Amino acid sequence: MVLSCLLLFILQTAAYPIPNTRPSDVGPLQEIQTRSESDSSVWSGTREFMYVPSVLKTMPKGPENHNRARDTSLAQFSCSSLVYGLSAADCVYMAEIGMLGQGNNSLEDNGLIWIGADGPNTFTFVNAADVPLILILWYAPQNDDQASFMNARVPAISYSLPNTGSAVELSVANGLSGAWSTIYDRSTALTAFGQVDNTFGEFSSGVYATVDVSRLVNMSGDPMTIMVSGESGGSGGCVSDMSTCVYTCDAGTGNSCGTERTYSLLNCGGPNAVKSMDSDGNPTGGCQGWSFGGHIDIVLTGPDS
Ligand SMILES: *[C@@H]1O[C@H](CO)[C@@H](O)[C@H](O)[C@H]1NC(C)=O
Ligand SMILES: *[C@@H]1O[C@H](CO)[C@@H](O)[C@H](O)[C@H]1NC(C)=O
Repeated sequence: MVLSCLLLFILQTAAYPIPNTRPSDVGPLQEIQTRSESDSSVWSGTREFMYVPSVLKTMPKGPENHNRARDTSLAQFSCSSLVYGLSAADCVYMAEIGMLGQGNNSLEDNGLIWIGADGPNTFTFVNAADVPLILILWYAPQNDDQASFMNARVPAISYSLPNTGSAVELSVANGLSGAWSTIYDRSTALTAFGQVDNTFGEFSSGVYATVDVSRLVNMSGDPMTIMVSGESGGSGGCVSDMSTCVYTCDAGTGNSCGTERTYSLLNCGGPNAVKSMDSDGNPTGGCQGWSFGGHIDIVLTGPDS
């Protein structure tokens, strides 16, 4: 009994890695992880799927790819009217790389994710990178296998952090999952499949609230540090950064990974740092200690800062 309770707890504690190919692309479908369905009222993790196109390994990367991505013919939206918090130059760049929209940027409690400090969970993002940043944060509804593809989904938030020290505080409702990434210096592109080609932060809020850094989309992405303050706002929280409590691709999988047993959760131990394994042998876990309410600080740094 004790063992099965423990197992149930472990199964429900995961933050889920994100598929790095877009489902509309050819290739076999692989479900990389599933959540426990046994108590959907308390956990809203998403099922994650990944299609594995044969072109993935041979895709050209680097400047050539990037230049092709930045092309006004890709624009799917207009910047003639801007959402709160997004500059015109940043909006134009987002359109040029093929994103679907500017972002919801709700300024009031919409039950999901909004700008402001009045929600049960608050996330503060700080630019410490010495270059202009655009925070891109999305909500991952249950069973939406394209939630992280910004050429196919409008982000919940897109926010300009133009200078070192620029910051924004967001509210996140309980019981939902999502993730974020960052456009650095108006030069980060989308991957060929439409994800922001940089380091991700992933979260699930609610009873088994978990947050972590994931490097599975781009192992050479820009650095980020996530610090959790607990339920009562106290310290002693877990830290996830580029080498601590972080999802990384295993040796030999290249710069990008995500299929079964190709990645690891490194150095995740200590108070509120949870590491486990799902029934398929993939690591699960991340930084906890903020069930039903907490504050997360995210510091976005650059290679030179
Ligand atoms: C974004 O806005 C749309 C339209 O109002 C709404 O249906 C959706 O739930 C919102 N999503 C988020 C994450 O705010
Ligand atoms: C990964 O991120 C780095 C840092 O932003 C960037 O230079 C690079 O082009 C990205 N993509 C790949 C495939 O390395």
